[in-house]
Amino acid sequence: MKVIVVKNYDEMSKVAANHVADVMKAKPDCVLGLATGDTPIGMYKNLIEMYKNGEIDFSKTTSVNLDEYYPITPDNDQSYRYFMNCNLFDHVNIDKAKTFVPDGQAKDVEAHCKAYEDRIDDLGGVDIQVLGIGRNGHIGFNEPDDELIKGTHLTALTQSTIEANSRFFASEADVPKHALTMGIESVFKARKVIVLASGANKAEAIRAMLKGNISTKCPASLICLHPDAVIICDEAAYSLV
Ligand code: PGA
Repeated sequence: MKVIVVKNYDEMSKVAANHVADVMKAKPDCVLGLATGDTPIGMYKNLIEMYKNGEIDFSKTTSVNLDEYYPITPDNDQSYRYFMNCNLFDHVNIDKAKTFVPDGQAKDVEAHCKAYEDRIDDLGGVDIQVLGIGRNGHIGFNEPDDELIKGTHLTALTQSTIEANSRFFASEADVPKHALTMGIESVFKARKVIVLASGANKAEAIRAMLKGNISTKCPASLICLHPDAVIICDEAAYSLV
């Protein structure tokens, strides 16, 4: 595992975008594993700039997203499909038919989760998976627990995540209580994983991840075992390590 500590959010975003761009340049038909949330927005802005400058090209790229609320419609402005369109896909030359986000309207959830996992395998696996980290150490919607489910699955959100995400909704009651998420094993199929963290509110999670024991009580700690994991965090997020 490699840890890169940078000054602030802008630098974190640039360094993260460079990691993604390097994979795209080396392998134009790569599979990107993408994440939502506040953290990667700056990275997406940098990638859009690089695309506009002709540095990177998304025409052969496929993407697979980490998670999605359930239930939710893709046109709901809080859905992760909507987020991805607004923050990246609408601004680059990616073929939207090759962008995959778990279906927040799936009727047969179990079959959908299996199909999602099979798709990752059929694509030959993710080349670089971008991850944020929850204040409670969650990865995707893999929340701290005694056990973690390996593959893509439906999960209940913890109260801490509902509270953290309520800032995006009219009220806490409007936050969906469930989500579809890749599991830790799905994440581990990626050849490279980058974890981004910015700000003092992530400091405890980064401390637990890097200094605590490996534990399902801190799902991010498991990422330390990945053979090619890079943690990119700013000084505030690193301040308790
Ligand atoms: P954030 O979420 O980027 O909005 O802080 C990260 C996460 O909860 O995984």
